[in-house]
Amino acid sequence: MNAPVEGFSKFSKEEKIRWIAQNYTSYPEQAEQLLKRYWNTDAAVQKIHDEFIENTISNYYLPFAIAPNFLINGEYYAIPMTIEESSVVAAASKAAKFWLSRGGFKTEVLGTEKVGQVHFMFKGDTSKLSRFFSEIKQDLIKDTSGITRSMEKRGGGITNIELRDKTDAIDNYYQLHCTFETLDAMGANFINSCLEQLAKTLKEKASAHSDFTQEEKAVEIVMSILSNYVPKCTVKAEVSCPVEALNEDGMSPQDFAKKMVQAVQIAKAEPYRAVTHNKGIMNGIDAVVLATGNDFRAIEAGIHAFAAKGGTYSSLTHASIEDGIFKFWIEVPLALGTVGGLTSLHPLVKLAMEILQNPTAKQLMQIIAVAGLAQNFAALRSLVTTGIQKGHMKMHLLNILNKMGASDSEKKELVHFFKERTVSNAAAKEALQNLRS
Ligand code: HMG
Repeated sequence: MNAPVEGFSKFSKEEKIRWIAQNYTSYPEQAEQLLKRYWNTDAAVQKIHDEFIENTISNYYLPFAIAPNFLINGEYYAIPMTIEESSVVAAASKAAKFWLSRGGFKTEVLGTEKVGQVHFMFKGDTSKLSRFFSEIKQDLIKDTSGITRSMEKRGGGITNIELRDKTDAIDNYYQLHCTFETLDAMGANFINSCLEQLAKTLKEKASAHSDFTQEEKAVEIVMSILSNYVPKCTVKAEVSCPVEALNEDGMSPQDFAKKMVQAVQIAKAEPYRAVTHNKGIMNGIDAVVLATGNDFRAIEAGIHAFAAKGGTYSSLTHASIEDGIFKFWIEVPLALGTVGGLTSLHPLVKLAMEILQNPTAKQLMQIIAVAGLAQNFAALRSLVTTGIQKGHMKMHLLNILNKMGASDSEKKELVHFFKERTVSNAAAKEALQNLRS
């Protein structure tokens, strides 16, 4: 049990399964069967999954759902969502339906600039480095032409390279801070290839630069890598309507609008609340990012850095009431791709893209920002009216009943029983016991 292993990566899939089952599980036979039960019956589909990552032994399924009725800039969308948490898709759908009759969502891409940096050490005179950089800037760009040619033909490429003096933070530390336009590609490989070439040219040119001392010639490249912080690759999504149109059961439209604005103000002022508030937004954003095969870790890291750009972690959404109009909006950075990566490999991602009418990266930015805004609207709407548990637990009921081993007919009866009652673990247990006795 719990043994180390040599050469695991070279084992066949069967060998890997046997090894993990025998060494790390109490019921090896059942573990093997379970892992194989999740294999796709279509060998070609399974092979694609096997090759996405390394040491694959099975598939880990997440539900793929649809939130319909989104009206975005006058066009109808049904949005694919991949997520494990109950009530998220229902909440998005409910928010979409709410805004469908109130003008829908309006969106605007504010920028598409991607960033990458070559981090290097230079021991010497900063003004000489600056002059050297100005002299070689064109060579830096020229030497990447083999990598940038196709991207440039499509209208993208390297948009700028700047020398940044970071010696305030770390002795001898400088950067080539580079910006890129990568169009419909997320661009990580393109950017990293460009950066590695820029680093190579920088080092070569420095070592031959006649104005440098020996120490200055020995530029030390530390690393070359894109940044997932993209504060100029942002999108805005917005909904608005007259306050009177916000009819809510048991609350006047004015009180509802005021509470929604207060809820956003609290998330702006209070980091403990902001994190949960933004988590609710990420329920929507991550689910569409995953369904469309994009990199949710990159998106998460970039968005949370953006939420803290003012020095304090704060709300990603905003709300106002002006001249009787309630306005609710989000501004988020989203570096996405609609070509390359999983988008051309994963059959369900391809279908998700088709359902979204094969969007460009800019269109996908707008759709995903809307999913985040809708999610936040739905969560805040529940929080300031009924409380979150009523709707959330109603959606969670089937999970609770499944955990308790309820049969299909019991589930049917209990879903009906809880239609007008608040669900909790204890209430579900009691109701199931009553039903059985
Ligand atoms: P409801 O009023 O009971 O729903 O809301 P309804 O039965 O009246 O149906 C209205 C519409 O809701 C439906 O229209 C659907 O669009 C949707 P229809 O399809 O009938 O024309 N809907 C559903 N869609 C799919 N499957 C369903 C379903 N039921 C309703 N079964 C609801 C129920 C859960 C939607 C509502 O209470 C809600 O929006 N709650 C918020 C839930 C939420 O935010 N969940 C996220 C998880 S909680 C969390 O992690 C984040 C949080 O902490 C963030 C924060 O603090 O800010 C809350």
